[in-house]
Amino acid sequence: MPPLACLGVVESPHHNPLRSYGLPGEGSLPVPLVPFFPNTFFANGGGVGTAAAAAWSAAHSSDLYRVDGWGAPYFVVNENGNVAVRPHGAKTLPSEEIDVMKVVKKVVASKSVGGLGMSAPLIVRFPDVLKHRLESLQSAFDSAMQTQSYGSFFQGVYPVKCNQDRYVVENIVEFGKPYSFGLEAGSKPELLLAMASMCKASPKALLVCNGYKDEEYVSLALTARRMNFNCVIVLEQEEELDVVLSVSRKLSVRPVIGVRAKLRTKHGGHFGTTSGEKGKFGLTSLEIVGIVRKLQKLGMLDCLQLLHFHIGSQIPSVEILNDGVSEAAYIYCELVKLGAGMKIIDIGGGLGIDYEGTKSSSSDMSVSYSLEEYAAAVVKAVRVACSQKGVNHPIICSESGRALVSHHSLLVFDVVSVHDKKDSVSAAVAGMDLKPLVDDLPEELVGEYKSVMAYTAMGDCHRSQICAEHMKARCLDMFKEGRLGLEQLATVDGMCDLVSSPPAGSPAVCHINLSIFKSIPDYWAIGQLFPVMPIQRLNERPTVRAVLSDLTCDSDGKVDTFISSDDNGTRGLALHSFEERSEPYYLGMFLGGAYQEALGGLHNLFGVPNVVHVVQSSGPHCFSITRALPGQTSADVLRLMMHEPNMMFNSLKCRIEDSLQQMDDDYDLDSAVSNLNTIASTFNSLPYLSSSSSTSSFFTDDEEESHDHDQDHDTW
Ligand SMILES: Cc1ncc(COP(=O)(O)O)c(C=O)c1O
Repeated sequence: MPPLACLGVVESPHHNPLRSYGLPGEGSLPVPLVPFFPNTFFANGGGVGTAAAAAWSAAHSSDLYRVDGWGAPYFVVNENGNVAVRPHGAKTLPSEEIDVMKVVKKVVASKSVGGLGMSAPLIVRFPDVLKHRLESLQSAFDSAMQTQSYGSFFQGVYPVKCNQDRYVVENIVEFGKPYSFGLEAGSKPELLLAMASMCKASPKALLVCNGYKDEEYVSLALTARRMNFNCVIVLEQEEELDVVLSVSRKLSVRPVIGVRAKLRTKHGGHFGTTSGEKGKFGLTSLEIVGIVRKLQKLGMLDCLQLLHFHIGSQIPSVEILNDGVSEAAYIYCELVKLGAGMKIIDIGGGLGIDYEGTKSSSSDMSVSYSLEEYAAAVVKAVRVACSQKGVNHPIICSESGRALVSHHSLLVFDVVSVHDKKDSVSAAVAGMDLKPLVDDLPEELVGEYKSVMAYTAMGDCHRSQICAEHMKARCLDMFKEGRLGLEQLATVDGMCDLVSSPPAGSPAVCHINLSIFKSIPDYWAIGQLFPVMPIQRLNERPTVRAVLSDLTCDSDGKVDTFISSDDNGTRGLALHSFEERSEPYYLGMFLGGAYQEALGGLHNLFGVPNVVHVVQSSGPHCFSITRALPGQTSADVLRLMMHEPNMMFNSLKCRIEDSLQQMDDDYDLDSAVSNLNTIASTFNSLPYLSSSSSTSSFFTDDEEESHDHDQDHDTW
């Protein structure tokens, strides 16, 4: 404990936030003269409304959140300071850009003013973006093949595991029909959904069956073949061949078979664990040759038509891609030489997304190539191998999932509150009367208390914190010995927290109306970063740094790393102060269209949020909401855990009736009915916090007028 005597010789540090405190006298806490830690993160500070704020523009926000890096050509910050979607990519005309805030306002506005009366969190799907992604993939391969005089064509499939949502799959089938685009399934239910969806696909479209298979899976796949689906059974394990042979005999259906090769090429990132010699999936060269021999003996070598491989998701560079595709292309050529009826090389998934916007090959969150460079590298590797071996060029199939569906879906959620520890401690302590504490302070603590106060007064932050921590520890000991009361302990704790507040610039905690486990599970599970940013007020300077904390009672339910151009997002997300405003403050999570919905869990029983589909249309707001799908209610999620909401409701109703019969004067029929209504409406509403935003006040006159027009297009 530094002696109080040293007080006289202590020099004030150059810069110390505690300098802003006065020391009015014994028995009261130091009072902040200016905000304790001005929660600004830009060197030149300045909140909204100051001259510095006036210098801020939408372009600054675009740069800060690196929107051009991860969002081009689909997301921009528009001149109103809102995020806008460019539904047709670079070809989108300025008049076709969709202002996301206009969509959100329409969705959350009450029905009486022409809104949908739905609340955040909200998944907004943009089918136009999905179409643009599919067409971009197709055209990247078409032009690479044309440029390189490739002798066959590209025919993709969508791996439904990336997002099995009915409308996503239906859209892909519809948009892909001109290109004979097909689907890939990895399990029996996925195959069922793929078969049903592909009733509307081109008959030439491939239906690729991956994943481990039993007799039932194989029977279903061969039934699909009999139904004239262009279905290929890809063998993941040697044993599967016997199942295929026996079921095909039983059903009298000649199978079309593929083999999944276990490549030696390895991709070193997080997603590379599926690749390399020790990878989880696929057949070694020895096993592939064994399968060829067996089919040959049975006179069925013509059935082997496809070679499949999957280097791993998020292939970081074209060098790794080239290695893997070349290795596979030579296997393909050898299979042709061995007499197999080879037609297709299926390069699996792996086409990556630049979540960070850095175009880097050294991060799992980025890739160093464009779609065009990816396609050119694949075509070249296959062409070179086939030319060398004198083999006809195969159809190239890809199973790109992430690259197809990530961009089309935007998760919008609202901020519930921002908790700044510094502010809340200040507020709590400001109301405390320290006189009783000082009067009753045990003798041995008086010196410590005076030291804390004195160092604070001098602005010696470091020493006052040391003294405060010491005093706090001693107080706790005394409390445990019964020598200090709870009120005294609380006062000392508050005082100590105040003087040892976190360093300037440490982020506040922003509570969000969302479950990370449901909606951004990969952040929790594998540390996957997604772009997150405010979708409005982007022409105002943000003034707060915050980490995001979700609704679940789990310490992992938080996001504390963000994509940002100034500090790699490690100091929290840049936000605007919003508490003085009555309007809700919305954040968007971008590029989450792949895997997140399928992987999301039910922690704390937060279910699927509301979903709307938005397409570009002519008209004043350039969009129409073509579908509005309510999220899962509490009853829905309870059913998923085998509870029976009707029975639950009846039990609770009986309980209320019992209470009535006990003739408790305070419990009359009216309150019984009202309690029952509360229970019923909770079963029927979404588990998320209900937002007060479903009001007419959030829907401006201008938008109300436009509603009639939009409604012409609305089909919900
Ligand atoms: C066999 C297979 N095909 C396709 C994919 C989709 O990969 P991506 O989303 O990287 O395109 C995966 C995903 O891991 C896969 O395992």
